[in-house]
Amino acid sequence: MTTLDTAALSQLFSLARTHNGFASEPIPEATLRHLYDLMKWGPTSMNCQPARLVFVTSPEGKQRLAATLSPGNVEKTLAAPVTVIVASDSFFYDHLPTQFPAYDARPIFAGNANLASNTAFRNSSLQGGYLILAARALGLDCGPMSGFDADKLNASFFPDGRYHVNFLCNLGIGDPGKLFPRGPRLSFEETCRIV
Ligand SMILES: Cc1cc2nc3c(=O)[nH]c(=O)nc-3n(C[C@H](O)[C@H](O)[C@H](O)COP(=O)(O)O)c2cc1C
Repeated sequence: MTTLDTAALSQLFSLARTHNGFASEPIPEATLRHLYDLMKWGPTSMNCQPARLVFVTSPEGKQRLAATLSPGNVEKTLAAPVTVIVASDSFFYDHLPTQFPAYDARPIFAGNANLASNTAFRNSSLQGGYLILAARALGLDCGPMSGFDADKLNASFFPDGRYHVNFLCNLGIGDPGKLFPRGPRLSFEETCRIV
């Protein structure tokens, strides 16, 4: 294992920004597939992989999404070539027999709705983070968003009730002219303890 070079670390972390404007240039499906092929390797508990992704690219899909957004998120979402709905599958555990063959873990979740929902939320959030870093690694800019009406979005995109939105993420080539000022970050001392 080696540390990535400074350029790679900057692209993933220190120089990467949250974007609010995007060029209209489309993202090829091959890139979206590459994105998933990278992010899927990020770890989840019991390899449960609860995240489900909807890549919204069509004008019809964007309008349906826009109807669920906070006003401040509409313009940038319509401008982005792709908006990803990061959702979680409430029946993620049905895949455990193939994805976690070590032992039969399905009944642990099938019989405990609270554990299943906490596990789906925790791990789909992690997978959303892997998605952001994978997108940055492929040279895409991201604009994650939680400003939307979850009930409306779920009714519109997941009417059978099985999937639940976690957050949204615009993807594309960002417009540096539309960045908000960079916020500070908490220091190591404020955030961390070594015990
Ligand atoms: C889960 C999540 C939800 C967010 N929701 C919104 C949102 O609804 N609207 C918005 O304009 N920015 C939203 N943001 C953007 C954050 O404010 C931004 O990522 C943060 O201030 C860091 O900005 P930077 O990456 O440019 O340093 C969200 C970010 C995350 C990770």
